[in-house]
Amino acid sequence: MATKRNPLEELRETVAHLAEQLKLPGSDKMDDLVGDLFGGRPTPARPLAEVQAELDGLIGLESVKEQVRALVALLQVQARRKAHGLPEVATSQHLVFLGNPGTGKTTVARLLAEMYHAVGLLQKGHLVEVDRSGLVGQYVGATAIKTDRVVRRALDGVLFIDEAYALAPEDGRMDFGPEAIEVLLKRMEDHRHRLVVIVAGYPRLMEAFLSSNPGLHSRFAREITFPDYSLDALHAIFTRMLVQHEYALAPGADEMLRRILAGLHTNEDSGNARFARTLFEQALNQQALRLSRHENRSLDTLDRDDVMTLTTDDITGAAAALGAEPAPETQPSRWWHWLT
Ligand SMILES: Nc1ncnc2c1ncn2[C@@H]1O[C@H](COP(=O)(O)OP(=O)(O)O)[C@@H](O)[C@H]1O
Ligand SMILES: [Mg+2]
Repeated sequence: MATKRNPLEELRETVAHLAEQLKLPGSDKMDDLVGDLFGGRPTPARPLAEVQAELDGLIGLESVKEQVRALVALLQVQARRKAHGLPEVATSQHLVFLGNPGTGKTTVARLLAEMYHAVGLLQKGHLVEVDRSGLVGQYVGATAIKTDRVVRRALDGVLFIDEAYALAPEDGRMDFGPEAIEVLLKRMEDHRHRLVVIVAGYPRLMEAFLSSNPGLHSRFAREITFPDYSLDALHAIFTRMLVQHEYALAPGADEMLRRILAGLHTNEDSGNARFARTLFEQALNQQALRLSRHENRSLDTLDRDDVMTLTTDDITGAAAALGAEPAPETQPSRWWHWLT
C-alpha cells in the first residue's frame, strides 16, 4: 500500500542507517532520538466508542469481537492502575490472526490499531500492511534494510504481516525470510512501546511458522481465530452492500443469490466476505451491460428503478464471471410452490 512519505522520516531512516553502519556506541538510540525530534508527532484519535461501534457493526465475527473487547478492556484497566500508582502488568500486545482469506482479518486489524490509539497504547494507530515481498530482499544485506524500513514506517502503529508463513518456507532452501524474522524480533524488542505486530494467515500454515523460531512463539502468544462466514452471514454482507449503495434485488434474484452463496465450496479459498464483495461489484457490471444493450432505449432515459435494480440474470452473470456456480435449487421450496 502506498503511503505518503515525509522527508523527515527519510532523514530519520538515513541517520539511523548511518549510525548502524558506523556501529557507534548507543547508536541504537539514534532512531528513537531522531524520531522524537521530528516526524513522530502523535495524531488525534477517533473516540473509542466510535471505533467500537464500527467493529460491532461488522456482520458475524462474534468471537473475534469478544476477544478484541477483552484486549482493549485489559489495556484500559492497566491504564487506570497506572493512574492510581499501581504497577502495570506488562503484557505483549502482538497477535496472531488465524483465518482463511476474506474472513475480515485486515478489516479488524485496522480497527484494532485505531482502538489501541484511542486508549493511548499507540501514538498514531495507523496500519502498515506488508507481505513477504515487502520485507525480504533479493540479495545479501537487502532484507535487513527493507525490514527495518517497514518497521520504521509502522512505529507508533500496527505492522500487519499477511501470509507471514511465507517468511519461513518449509523446504529449508536458502532463503532470506528467516533474516527478516530475526530483524523483526529485534526491532520488536527495541521498540517495545512503539510497535504492535500482527501476523496473519491460513490457520494450517501459521502453526508451522510460529514453531519455526522460538522467539516467535513466545512473542506471539495470543491468537484470534477468524472463522469462515456462514451462508447467512455472507448473505447479510451482500445485502448490506446493496442497502449502503442503494441498490435492490428484483423478485427471484435473492433466491439466486442464496443458491450462489450456498454453492461456494467451503474451503480455504472460497473467498468468504471478499467473494461477497466481488460478486456485488460484478453484478453492477452485469447490470450496466444489460442496460446498455437495451435496443430501443438510450441510457439517459433510464428511470430510478432501472438503475437501482439487480436482476437474477445480473447475479447469475456475476457469479459466472467469477467462476462460481449456483447450488441446485433447494427441494423444499419446489414442493412448497406445488403445494401453494
Ligand atoms: N464482517 C464483515 N462485514 C462486512 N464486510 C466484511 C466483513 N468482513 C470482511 N468484509 C469485507 O470483505 C473484504 C475482505 O475482508 P478483509 O478484511 O480484507 O479479509 P482478510 O484480510 O481476512 O483477507 C473487505 O472488503 C471487507 O470490507
Ligand atoms: Mg487481508
